[in-house]
Amino acid sequence: MINKNDEYIVEIIDNGIDGEGIAKIDGYTLFVEGAIKGEKIKVLIVKANKTYGYGKIIELIEKSPYRVEPICPQYKKCGGCSLQHMSYEAQMRYKEEKVKKTINKFLGENNNFIFNSIIGMGIPYNYRNKAQYPCQSGKIGFYSVRSHEVIENNYCYIQDEESDKLAKKAFDILMQSNNVCYNEKDGTGNIRHIMVRIGKNSGELMLVIITKNEVLLGKEELIKKLKEEFPNLKSIIQNINDKNTNIIMGKTCKTLYGEDYIVDILGEYKFKISPLSFYQVNPVQTEILYYTAVEMAKLKGDEISFDLYCGIGTISSFLSSKCKKVYGVEIVPEAIEDAKENAKLNEITNIDFRCGAAEDIIPKMYEEDNIKANVVFVDPPRKGCDQVLLDTIIKMKPEKMIYISCNVATLGRDLKYLIDNSFELQIVQPVDQFPQTAHVETIALLRLK
Ligand SMILES: C[S@@+](CC[C@H](N)C(=O)[O-])C[C@H]1O[C@@H](n2cnc3c(N)ncnc32)[C@H](O)[C@@H]1O
Repeated sequence: MINKNDEYIVEIIDNGIDGEGIAKIDGYTLFVEGAIKGEKIKVLIVKANKTYGYGKIIELIEKSPYRVEPICPQYKKCGGCSLQHMSYEAQMRYKEEKVKKTINKFLGENNNFIFNSIIGMGIPYNYRNKAQYPCQSGKIGFYSVRSHEVIENNYCYIQDEESDKLAKKAFDILMQSNNVCYNEKDGTGNIRHIMVRIGKNSGELMLVIITKNEVLLGKEELIKKLKEEFPNLKSIIQNINDKNTNIIMGKTCKTLYGEDYIVDILGEYKFKISPLSFYQVNPVQTEILYYTAVEMAKLKGDEISFDLYCGIGTISSFLSSKCKKVYGVEIVPEAIEDAKENAKLNEITNIDFRCGAAEDIIPKMYEEDNIKANVVFVDPPRKGCDQVLLDTIIKMKPEKMIYISCNVATLGRDLKYLIDNSFELQIVQPVDQFPQTAHVETIALLRLK
C-alpha cells in the first residue's frame, strides 16, 4: 500500500504525455514531474490514489546525461515550459517517441508508415508571437503552476522580448490611471488579461486589453505614451469579457487606436490577423510546417484541394499556386473575413472561403453541390476532427489527405478511423512548434488504398 508522505527510491522508466517522469512500484504507477527517463531518484509521495499516485523529487541519485539547468529562474513556479530541464536534443527525442508511441498505440505495430525525424528549431527560445498575461491584485505575470495565483514576471524565455516590454508598460500605465485588476473570486475589478501579438516578420505589434466591462480609465494617456515608446504599435484593442470563465477573450472588440488588425508575413504571403483569429504561434516553424505539408501532398497543379479548419487562410494561400482550386472552411467569422482579405492582399483568385463548421459545410458541399476534393488538408483544434466530417471524407474518396495536428492523441484516434475506412498511412512528420514545452505538431500523409 502506497501512502502520502512515504519515500521511495525509483527508476524512471518513461516520460508521459506532458513530459512527466513515470515510475512503477510493484505495478503501482507513479508520476514525477521534472524526472527524466533513465534517472534513479528518491521521491516523496505527494498524492496517492488506489492504482496511481504523484511523487516529488527529493534527491537525484543517478542523473540523466540529458538533464540541464533550466534557463528560466521562474521555471519551477510556472507551468508554461515543462521540459526546460531537458537538453533541446532530449526534448526532440522525447517528442519523436511520444508521437511514434501514441500512433502505434492506436494503429498497432504492424503499420508500415515512414516515420521522419522531428524538424527542430535552430534557436528554441523567444519564438512565440502571442503572449497572454493574467493581471491580478496590481500584478501582471503568469499563473503559478496548477493555480490561478499570478506571479509577477518581467521576462519569459519563449516570448518575444518586445511583447514582455509592451505588456508591462501598458499595465503600469493602466494601474497609474486607477484601473483595478479583475478579481475572479468575487467578480469585482476590471482588467483581466493583457494580450500582445507581434508579427515576427513584419515587426507590427497589437495590444489587446481584456476587461470585464466597457470602462477603461486613462485611454488617451495610454495611447500617447505607448505610441511614443513603441513606434511599431499598429493596433490597440479593448476586448470585453464579462463572463466568469477561464476563456481569456470575450466576443466584443473595440479598437482604441490604429487598425483592428496587424499584418505579418509567412513565406511569400502577407496575412492580416484580427484579435479573435487563430494564428500559429511560432512563425519560424510554421513556414517549415506549411512548406513541408504542401510538399508532402506532391500536387501536380490540376487538383481541387480542401483546407479545412483554415483559420485566416494561411495553408490555403500556400496551396493556391500548387493546385487548380482551394476551398477553405473555418468556423470563426472574424477569421474567415481575414482569410478573404488575405486572398485579395496576395492577389490570389482561386480560393473559395466558406464560414461554418466543417462538419456542416463539407457534407452539404459534397452531397448537395457535388463538390469533391482530390486532396484534403485538415488542421483541427486539439479535439480533432468531427466524426461527420471524417465520414464525408471517407465517402468522397480523395486521393490524398494531409492531417496536421497539435494533439497526437486525437490524431491517432482519427488516423485509426481513416485507416479502417479505406485510407493507408504513408508518412508521419513531427515538427517542433513549441520548444521547451511537451507539445508537438505532427503532419500525417494518408492515401486512398
Ligand atoms: C489549429 S487551428 C488551424 C488554423 C489554420 N489552419 C492555421 O494554420 O493557422 C484550428 C482552426 O479551426 C477552427 N475551428 C474549430 N472548430 C471548427 C469547426 N468545427 N469547423 C471549422 N473550423 C473550426 C478554429 O477556429 C481554428 O481557426
